[in-house]
Amino acid sequence: MSKTATAVSVALLTAFAAASAHAQDSANSAELRADSAALAYRNAVVPAPPGWKGPTFKLAHDYPTQDPGTCPKTECTWLDLKVDFTLPLSGPAPTWGSPWSDYIQRVLDYVKKGQDEALRNEIGWKTTIGNDNRWFHVPWMAYDPTRGREYVHGMTNERTATLSDFGEDVEIDRGISKLLLANGQESNKFFETWAFGVYNRWGAYSIGRTIGRNGVPVTGNYGGVAAPAGLPFPEGTVVAKLLFTTATPADVSYLKDSPAWQTDRHEQKGDMFLCNRKVQEVRLIQLDVAVVDSRSPTRWVFGTFAWNGNKQGKTAWDKLEPVGLQWGSDPWTFPAVAQSGSIPAHESVLNKGIGTPQHFGCNERLAGPVDNKLSSCLSCHGGGFAPPVGFAATKTTTPPIFGFNGQCEVNSVDNAQYFSNNQFPMAYTGGQYPDLLSMDTSLQLQVAFEQYGQFKQYGQPVGCKASK
Ligand code: HEC
Repeated sequence: MSKTATAVSVALLTAFAAASAHAQDSANSAELRADSAALAYRNAVVPAPPGWKGPTFKLAHDYPTQDPGTCPKTECTWLDLKVDFTLPLSGPAPTWGSPWSDYIQRVLDYVKKGQDEALRNEIGWKTTIGNDNRWFHVPWMAYDPTRGREYVHGMTNERTATLSDFGEDVEIDRGISKLLLANGQESNKFFETWAFGVYNRWGAYSIGRTIGRNGVPVTGNYGGVAAPAGLPFPEGTVVAKLLFTTATPADVSYLKDSPAWQTDRHEQKGDMFLCNRKVQEVRLIQLDVAVVDSRSPTRWVFGTFAWNGNKQGKTAWDKLEPVGLQWGSDPWTFPAVAQSGSIPAHESVLNKGIGTPQHFGCNERLAGPVDNKLSSCLSCHGGGFAPPVGFAATKTTTPPIFGFNGQCEVNSVDNAQYFSNNQFPMAYTGGQYPDLLSMDTSLQLQVAFEQYGQFKQYGQPVGCKASK
């Protein structure tokens, strides 16, 4: 371990120890004695008001307790498709078309099975299909009053620049973004993103063994490394995430006919988003998928679809066009290496003939319409690490997944780390975070660990405070 890494590590441990002392001090607070199970498994930050007649979100947390075993090839059909995730670096970069387009289509066919064809608000996302408990949610995501789950569809907002934040600490990331308009120009307005994610039963088998019925995260030992007890996610795991924007077809014409869902989201005042929430409409713009495929160098394959209202099709599902697939962060491509030694990205394949304007991610890596274009799916998700159980996260104790100075701009240590590949249970590249637990790319589990830590240490969530 390098000298700096050791120094940082000691600093981190000291931070955790200091935080622990603080936790002792506040151990008597009433909030802290609240039942962690109730907080972990509650449906929403605020329940639906009396008289609410719209859809109401219900957390699916009946995680399987039996190992679902190997996913049959008839079910996980993409695993049966011949694809090469280790293309020779000296050869050509992959281009869109078969088998990549077949791979993502097979995953989509699995995801949409039994769901409403028009993806109507009234129906929402079905977690049970027939007698099958098909989809499950991650606990602890209804704790933070600002970003946590709302009661209509269980959507969360990753980070929002709020009124009180302006002028102090403006941070632009996934929670709020500019969009590409139909003419390819960036909007001058900001839009919020609200989203929800679901795991299939292979993923849920891991979640159920990682967060106890009492709401407390459980760790074990994986090959000598401390790690969440239910990880890694087994092959067969499928995760889907539906992302909705506050933009309307009047703002962005290709959002035409996009399913409009109600969500209890932040009120808006001009271009600013306030702490207060009220039920308003948002529109489907992006659908993310992630699957475990042991042939991938990271064990994961991420893919995304973008809404295109101008596309012909009978169902809403037909109007979701694939943007691309990604199975690694391309550590041989700028800015992970200098421009002079950079090769074209080999671990992302992009659908450049897609019918809507796309910015994609950093240097031809994959990112979707509402994602940060200086990032990519797996470089952000590769930073899925959380502090030891019971500790809240701070900006300096976890990798800067939402951005840092010079991101995607210069070849630097930060960029080399951010655009590197790691596999569970490896530590984050670079060695500065030896005490963190690997979440095997799950940023929802990261939220769960961090929210539990916040609860345990401070007895109350961090919420946004409205300025007068
Ligand atoms: C800059 C960071 C960032 C980028 C880039 C990003 N994500 Fe995520 N993603 C998140 C965060 C944070 C969450 C968890 C919070 C939530 O779901 O509300 C998440 C959640 C997810 C989930 C639900 C499972 C999980 O890991 O928690 C999936 C699936 C997903 N993202 C897929 C994608 C795909 C596909 C892409 C690229 C097209 C992508 N993400 C790009 C930050 C990112």
